[in-house]
Amino acid sequence: MRQPLIAGNWKMNGSKASADALLRGVVAGSGGVSKSEIAVCVPFPYLYLGEQLLVGSAVRLGGQNLCTESGGAFTGEVSGSMLADFGCTYVICGHSERREYYGEDEASIALKLTRAIESGLTPILCVGETLRQREAGETEAVIAGQVDGVVDRIGIDAFAGIEIAYEPVWAIGTGLTATPEQAQAVHAFIRSRIAEKSASIAKKVRILYGGSMKPGNAAELLAQTDIDGGLIGGASLNADDFLAICLAGEQTAA
Ligand code: 13P
Repeated sequence: MRQPLIAGNWKMNGSKASADALLRGVVAGSGGVSKSEIAVCVPFPYLYLGEQLLVGSAVRLGGQNLCTESGGAFTGEVSGSMLADFGCTYVICGHSERREYYGEDEASIALKLTRAIESGLTPILCVGETLRQREAGETEAVIAGQVDGVVDRIGIDAFAGIEIAYEPVWAIGTGLTATPEQAQAVHAFIRSRIAEKSASIAKKVRILYGGSMKPGNAAELLAQTDIDGGLIGGASLNADDFLAICLAGEQTAA
C-alpha cells in the first residue's frame, strides 16, 4: 500500500507575512493527519521561514524548481544542494508552467531530476496534456513521451526515488477537474508505462493528481486505485482547505 502524499505548490504567491501565517496554520492543523504525508513547496525566499516553522512537525518542505547544474556561475539559479541545506525533502520538476513559460523539456527535466537525487531530494516529476492534445486523442501519446523521455535518459531505477504528478494542463487553475475516472485512467496508464520497465518500481511509485483539487472533490479522486495523493495549487494557499484535502487523504489511507 502506498502512503498518500498531499503536497501544496504555492507557486509565486504570498508575502513574508502570509507565508508565516500559512505555515503556522498548516502545522497547527497537521496533528490530525497521521496516515498521509504532507508537504508544502514554497517560493525560494520563504524556504528559511519554512525550515524554521516546520521543525518538529510532520509537515515536509519542498522547492518548486532547481538548476540543471550543481553549482557555480549560473546567476539567478538555485541548486539542489541549497534546497537540501534548507531542509527540503521534495522538489517539483517539470511543472507544466515551467515547460510552457521557461522552455523546459525532457532533456533539461532529466538533468534536474538527476541533480535533485544527487542532492538527497525526492523530485516530484509533473506530466500532463493540454486541452488541445486531449481533444485530439493524444493524451496517452503525450504522457508516454513525457515519461519515456525521462526514463530513457536517467534509467528506470531512478524512479525508486521519484514521485510522479499527473497534472492535466486544462485542469490547472481553471476550476475544471478531471473526473475521477479520467484521472484514474491516466494514472493507470502511467503506472503501466513504468511497469513495462520495472514491475516492482511501478508498484511502489506514487502518482499524485494535480489540477483544481479542492476539499469538495479530493475524496473521490484520492479513492481511485492509482491516485496516491495530490499536488495542490490554489487550495494550498488556504490552510483550512489544504488541511481538509489532507484529511480526505486520511480516509483512503490504509
Ligand atoms: P491548481 O490546484 O491551482 O489547479 O494547481 C495545480 C497545480 O498546478 C499544482 O502543481
